[in-house]
Amino acid sequence: CGIVGVTGSNRSVEILINGLKSLEYRGYDSAGIYVNDQNGHDYLVKRQGRIANLENALTDDVQGLAGIGHTRWATHGQPSETNSHPHYSNDKRFYLVHNGVIENYDQLKRDYLSEVDLNSQTDTEVIVQLVAYFVKENQMSTKAAFLKVLRLISSDSSYAFVLMDREEPEMLYVAKNKSPLLIGLADGYNMVGSDAISMLKETNQFMEIEDHELVMVTPDNIQLEDFDGQEHHRDSFTVDMDANAADKGAYPYYMLKEVDEQPAVMRRIVSEYFDQAGNPSVDEAILAEMAKADHIYIIGAGTSYHAGLVGARLLEKYAHIPTSVNISSEFAYDRPLLSQKPFFIFLSQSGETADSRQVLVDVNEHQWPSLTLTNVDKSTLSREATFTMLLYAGPEIAVASTKAYTAQIAVEAVLAKALGMYLADDQAQAFDLRAQLGAVANGMQAITDSKEDLEAIAARFLSKPRNAFYIGRGLDWTVSIEAALKLKEISYVQAEGFASGELKHGTIALIEEGTPVIGIITQDRTAGLTRSNLEETQARGANAITIVARHLAQDNDTIVIPDVDADLTPLLSVVPAQLLAYYTSLGKGLDVDKPRNLAKSVTVM
Ligand code: G6P
Repeated sequence: CGIVGVTGSNRSVEILINGLKSLEYRGYDSAGIYVNDQNGHDYLVKRQGRIANLENALTDDVQGLAGIGHTRWATHGQPSETNSHPHYSNDKRFYLVHNGVIENYDQLKRDYLSEVDLNSQTDTEVIVQLVAYFVKENQMSTKAAFLKVLRLISSDSSYAFVLMDREEPEMLYVAKNKSPLLIGLADGYNMVGSDAISMLKETNQFMEIEDHELVMVTPDNIQLEDFDGQEHHRDSFTVDMDANAADKGAYPYYMLKEVDEQPAVMRRIVSEYFDQAGNPSVDEAILAEMAKADHIYIIGAGTSYHAGLVGARLLEKYAHIPTSVNISSEFAYDRPLLSQKPFFIFLSQSGETADSRQVLVDVNEHQWPSLTLTNVDKSTLSREATFTMLLYAGPEIAVASTKAYTAQIAVEAVLAKALGMYLADDQAQAFDLRAQLGAVANGMQAITDSKEDLEAIAARFLSKPRNAFYIGRGLDWTVSIEAALKLKEISYVQAEGFASGELKHGTIALIEEGTPVIGIITQDRTAGLTRSNLEETQARGANAITIVARHLAQDNDTIVIPDVDADLTPLLSVVPAQLLAYYTSLGKGLDVDKPRNLAKSVTVM
């Protein structure tokens, strides 16, 4: 979910809507705003579905000097209007937006609210009703009541809260634990938001909020305290990002724009991470710390996890440090036996994924060193890790991740080469990564220039079947998993990525007449084997499709991609798969950028 708040601007409604639009990537089940004009009028408007529905429901009289807004990815309760935020107390005095999950809300409800009629099934409503309850029953101030509620929330809960009180219409009461939230300092007014981009149209000055702080935001003041009333002081920081970079331009969908941007992203990474002489420039402190490690643990979710599967192979090859890749939601609760000197790499496009942050909290408690590779400067995972390397992919808006995946792999390659050179490895020294990434950029361009072919292949093979398989070995296998994820998340074809040799040990039973099986073939050693596996499926009725590196291509191959360094082939072989998914989704008339049930950045565990 995404939240925004503003106080001290007569453009509050516009500011909230703009903020919510940029946070829509966090969920789009429902959206709502509450604004107060500080002249005795206040307004609450909520709608199911996209922000556009909310925007259409706003009449001219809905105006205010302060307000809060929310875009929801449903956790507790159906995605309905009643369950959407802002939630309010029965006396309509308190309004609350929340991102996160209150684990003990049922208990709190039973302990204190047995006499109160609740409107929704959400954990959030319990919190706002509780504030009202303590204000009324215990004659507490709003601040004291809110603090009491914050103390009652179990420590395994996560929240980012912005609370408004009808009787103090200038004030935003703000608190967070685990879920992301930032303060934005604008000229004459102040804001809060789930991320910096949601406030970037208004300001580039931000202030961090720490877990277990209570913050009172007014148009001209920010007051931070811990739960014991101890005041905290904090400097603001500047985020250097272009708010307009997130525009869709002439593209029908962000995803297509982002696929097309990949050559430029590769070139940007080259210019950010290489010096004039062609040597990688990575902060030496990172390399020194990594060089001490006896094992590297890569942590990520979704597409970022898939990018880690490629990175691990690069790090092992060039830096010779054993590297394992872990799904963050698994690692957080089922931590494997760790080595003596672990080093952690967090991969996260958004830098906000709750599952990954859960691992980082644990890593920091043990004072293990960590590095976050992220696309979002000053994001939570970046601020809290020991080191950060940015992806320089520019804002990624489409839910299906494309350029962040290739950017992550490219930056992992830079890191592997730099670390290998730091450790005096000859192979790393000889690896001309700068030139190779240039070749990759050109190769990507060639693939994105052949969109019509890919559109035709998607229409012919993928538009009807319910199932599809991507297969490959080694690096090709890692890409097959990502390729399958692209297809399933936006076109709803049930797709799996499979180690091609493993197919015959069970999954081949699923192959029927017309089942598409897409073989990724870029590695000399395994090309013949994958081809045989593909033939085995063909013999059982499958429609075999191939994505093949040029030097391995044969007459009947479907998609031939340019040759690049064998370790960097994922950067190219994934691109046709991204476009096949795009055109399959488009052909089915689906919303490519906003597939059902998903959110771009999942800030709940
Ligand atoms: C969500 C998105 C995925 C993404 C994953 C990890 O599930 O839908 O596309 O790969 O989160 O996000 P991160 O921002 O941590 O890379």
